[in-house]
Amino acid sequence: MISSWTHLWYNLSDWIRTEVFQDFESRMRHTYIIWKSWTGKSVLQVQCASSDIKNDKWIIVIDPHGELVDDILKCVPEKRKKDVVLIDPVNYKNAVSINFLDENDPTKYSNVAEEIIKIMKVLYWEDAIKWVEWQYITNIIKLLLYCPNENQVNEYNKKNWTKFEYLWENYWKTLLDFKQIINDDNYRTYKLIGVEKDYNLLNF
Ligand SMILES: Nc1ncnc2c1ncn2[C@@H]1O[C@H](COP(=O)(O)OP(=O)(O)O)[C@@H](O)[C@H]1O
Ligand SMILES: [Mg+2]
Repeated sequence: MISSWTHLWYNLSDWIRTEVFQDFESRMRHTYIIWKSWTGKSVLQVQCASSDIKNDKWIIVIDPHGELVDDILKCVPEKRKKDVVLIDPVNYKNAVSINFLDENDPTKYSNVAEEIIKIMKVLYWEDAIKWVEWQYITNIIKLLLYCPNENQVNEYNKKNWTKFEYLWENYWKTLLDFKQIINDDNYRTYKLIGVEKDYNLLNF
């Protein structure tokens, strides 16, 4: 059988066994799996995934429960084990960090700040933080976003920043800078250097 076909299952009727295959292209274009519990949805996905892995294809599996991923991992052949990247958000020993502020397009800063605020409102009790405080939080996030990353800094910026050199080493903007923005005046001023174009934020 051609390797671009996936063996899905076999059908038994009148004692005749018929193998059922689906070709790769039609799977990519037409597959949506929906049915009741315990009807074989997961097994079908494991079958497709393991077929792709064995045929040297690259797949991404997003699994909120973890059982599907475990089953798929069992099907990875020895020669492809080195290709597996497992990102497990509940594994505290190998925590994966996501930097929400890793965005370099200023037209997207408002969106990024808005999305972070949405997450914070879900994590913390929304009413516990007053409207004015949300304004502070939003603007601090924007301030962090406006500050260029280490690799974006040109000579002109460097000259202006010498005053705050102590803050400069190995700098990478993350939400961890949040607290220092509030507590450290110098740090705040240093961050404001990148904000020339956003007057609302500067005035705030
Ligand atoms: N094609 C199949 N033939 C026979 N048994 C199957 C088949 N597909 C799945 N099963 C069995 O049916 C049960 C439910 O399968 P599962 O994939 O977990 O269902 P779902 O994900 O839809 O809840 C499992 O015990 C599985 O081994
Ligand atoms: Mg399932």
